[in-house]
Amino acid sequence: MAPKITVIGTGYLGATHAAAMAELGFEVLGLDVVPEKVELLGRGEIPMYEPGLAELLRRHVAGLPGSTGRLRFTLDWAEVAAFGDVHFVCVNTPQKHGEYACDMSYVDAAVESLAVHLDRPCLVVGKSTVPVGSADRLAARIAELAPAGEEAALAWNPEFLREGFAVDDTLHPDRIVVGVRDQRHEAVLREVYATPIAEGSPFVVTDFATAELVKTSANSFLATKISFINAMAEVCEAAGGDVVKLAEAIGHDDRIGKKFLRAGIGFGGGCLPKDIRAFMARAGELGADQALTFLREVDSINMRRRGHMVELTKDALGGVLLGRRVAVLGASFKPDSDDVRDSPALNVAGQLHLQGAQVTVYDPKGNENARRIFPTLGYAASAAEAVRGADVVLHLTEWAEFRELDPAVLGEQVGRRHILDGRNALDPVAWRNAGWTYRALGRPTL
Ligand code: UDX
Repeated sequence: MAPKITVIGTGYLGATHAAAMAELGFEVLGLDVVPEKVELLGRGEIPMYEPGLAELLRRHVAGLPGSTGRLRFTLDWAEVAAFGDVHFVCVNTPQKHGEYACDMSYVDAAVESLAVHLDRPCLVVGKSTVPVGSADRLAARIAELAPAGEEAALAWNPEFLREGFAVDDTLHPDRIVVGVRDQRHEAVLREVYATPIAEGSPFVVTDFATAELVKTSANSFLATKISFINAMAEVCEAAGGDVVKLAEAIGHDDRIGKKFLRAGIGFGGGCLPKDIRAFMARAGELGADQALTFLREVDSINMRRRGHMVELTKDALGGVLLGRRVAVLGASFKPDSDDVRDSPALNVAGQLHLQGAQVTVYDPKGNENARRIFPTLGYAASAAEAVRGADVVLHLTEWAEFRELDPAVLGEQVGRRHILDGRNALDPVAWRNAGWTYRALGRPTL
């Protein structure tokens, strides 16, 4: 009989994983410790914007019209333990307040709350991004707490999904990585990930430490790639080069590749920034900090982008921010997401506001989350409303909707036709032809 699946934690990762498992035909029980979330998910709704996820949930959540009924949500640990053969732990590991290290308290609490109820053979599978060495520690903790002892085992199976593409990345992963101590656990995970999910996806079997490191090193590599091209943008600005052309040209080399070479105001979100910091902190604990000192540079290049954007804005306003009207297009850390965690766009908007500018933000999905963090900024219901009377317009999150804006029409609304493209995503020719001064990071000013 197919194993029954539970998913602990229902954020981006957990909610998507639970729905995807139900889509594959498994019976799934999701758990969260927040009653409002459980209630919302039970109605087939999600507390965030993620394309396609609500539809996928509604196809499977029990009790909804026309659903398969394969997916339910609960607050009850005992129910989860009794139901599941395979328990996926998908809770988050945020950065600790005031420290680089990641906060493992949610993972620890989840594993312990579950373990005390595990009285029959089962596999607990960690998916959260954790410091290397966590799986060893958690396996020992489960063996110690579970009434089933070592029959309640652990495996590590990092997740590589991107926000905005969570459903597709989960159903069609680039690779599946499993860290196991026992071949029987590999067999269980092969069954869980049997086609269509694993069709064409390499299945990499390894030890705990390597599985944990695959995730942190993949994210560090991606962050490094972005900071590399942003460093080139700094040099291009100093030398009069064009970083967009440069990225295109180096990207033709397959060994470099075209992806993740978009220069701009840098990376943000709930993963890359905190993952590189946690990785440095963990390497320090292991006495390997020298190996990762370059990540400090990756981080500081990235943070410098935000300050640079603020300086460019000041320049565009003749050195004075006080009382000037700045329209900011974008608040989420990337398009197709309402997530504003460590968002470069919101950070820039906030800095400008704190320096006296009158900032009005418009994001197609992120306004509400942004308002919670920065209630003192102005928020508009559309791009046209945001730019009304603006002395300068900043394009900070590259939503498709912004690429479709008509510069001529928008030009009628603004005080001055001045746009700074923080994402190198708009068409300079179209904006300049419509009478705008267009400036982008790492590109020549005309
Ligand atoms: C990332 C990883 O891609 C994913 O594999 C992992 O599971 C979680 O962390 P995510 O945080 O959703 O995913 O976003 P991603 O698409 O990687 O973008 C991260 C940030 O980098 C965004 O702020 C984005 O705007 C920025 N970015 C990305 C650039 O500035 N330039 C680029 O070329 C690419």
